[in-house]
Amino acid sequence: MTRLAMSLLAAVVVVLITACTPIPAEVEGFETRCIEMTTEEIPPHEDDPHDGFKRVYACDITLDQLVDGNGQTIRPFPDGTRIIKASRRPAESFNWLVASAQKVNGTWKWVEWTRNFPDEELLQIPASEQLCIDCHRQVESADWIFSGYVSR
Ligand code: HEC
Repeated sequence: MTRLAMSLLAAVVVVLITACTPIPAEVEGFETRCIEMTTEEIPPHEDDPHDGFKRVYACDITLDQLVDGNGQTIRPFPDGTRIIKASRRPAESFNWLVASAQKVNGTWKWVEWTRNFPDEELLQIPASEQLCIDCHRQVESADWIFSGYVSR
């Protein structure tokens, strides 16, 4: 096998392995375990990378670490924070997409999982983190996170 063929094969294997990685147990259950930042679903909008109606959650962080006395979101988020975005498609009630940003040693790690049917496992999409980073850079000054805690 040529060197080129071998590196192509290696790239395909990486994509296949990533695409078969199910959502980890530590992420599942976010709807009950985490703090919901939204109070209403974010509707689909133009240039929407996470198509559908979305809710955003803050995980592995306390409410005191997330919101100050004036109801403002405290940024930067502490290390270990995981922000989850869950999206359901119009006319469906299950999450077809779950996106995660987890802060590890001061850097956000970006991952997304999807499925087409409610009885399917959510599997990681083989997209590069660079895609996420390039768009979230718009809110670099807000610690890369668009959403804030909506007071209730
Ligand atoms: C084209 C721009 C764009 C790309 C690409 C993008 N996002 Fe987002 N993302 C947004 C916007 C805008 C929001 C705010 C909520 C909304 O309007 O849907 C958001 C929200 C989020 C949130 C909730 C926290 C927040 O910032 O509000 C997470 C988590 C997230 N995205 C993860 C990802 C991951 C993982 C990827 C890559 C696989 C990704 N995003 C790619 C634009 C983008």
